[in-house]
Amino acid sequence: MSLTGLFLTLFLVVHLTGNIQLLFDDGGEAFNKYADFMGSNPLIQTIAIGNFFFIIVHFIDGILLTLRNRKARPVAYASTNKSSTWFSRNMLIFGAVIFVFILVHLSNFWYVSKFGSIETIKYGSTEVKNIYALAHAKFSNIIYVALYVGSMLFVAFHLWHGFQSAFQTIGLAHEKYTPIIKSAGYGLTILVCLGFAAIPLLIYFKILF
Ligand code: HEM
Repeated sequence: MSLTGLFLTLFLVVHLTGNIQLLFDDGGEAFNKYADFMGSNPLIQTIAIGNFFFIIVHFIDGILLTLRNRKARPVAYASTNKSSTWFSRNMLIFGAVIFVFILVHLSNFWYVSKFGSIETIKYGSTEVKNIYALAHAKFSNIIYVALYVGSMLFVAFHLWHGFQSAFQTIGLAHEKYTPIIKSAGYGLTILVCLGFAAIPLLIYFKILF
């Protein structure tokens, strides 16, 4: 769980960095060219297959781990351990919501860009899919904006506990380093989730005004 989780966290950082280009006022040139490169480079495509695989493995692992923990203690604790936080006890629920979000998200973007009918745009002599326009169409709808912003709250809850927990599982628990890892995890969580939530919000308000 920890290794797939850390890989998926790394994916989120890369994904957010690329998606920031959706906010550029360049008619989508930077983002569309980037998406075209990511969608056609064989190395990136191999990593993308690994990414899908890790999402599924991480989710199934999470279900199995929760079932195993429940089996070990069929009767719930009368009072919960102080060291087990509300975040850690609800990891499966947050994960399940994120999994559903990913399915909806893939049908919104990945499926349309790979298998749907999507307009293309020419920059000089290169013609690429206009995923920038697709994102702007989606995020002109307040329902999608609310769905994406709301889902980022669950990503935040999940990462808040998950990041430091992954390091503990690997065995990197240390008096000196654990507080640093925890703080880095909290900082990363806030940055990634605010960044992802800002994209649909800023596009929505840019279109509105
Ligand atoms: C504002 C938020 C987000 C935007 C605008 C966005 C945008 C996109 C776009 C445009 C694609 C399709 C790329 C293509 O097929 O060419 C994509 C793929 C994907 N997104 Fe997002 N995304 C966002 C947040 C997230 C989050 C929070 C997650 C995970 C929790 C996520 C997971 C994925 C995955 C797994 C793929 C498939 C990647 C692949 O093809 O390998 N996205 N996203």
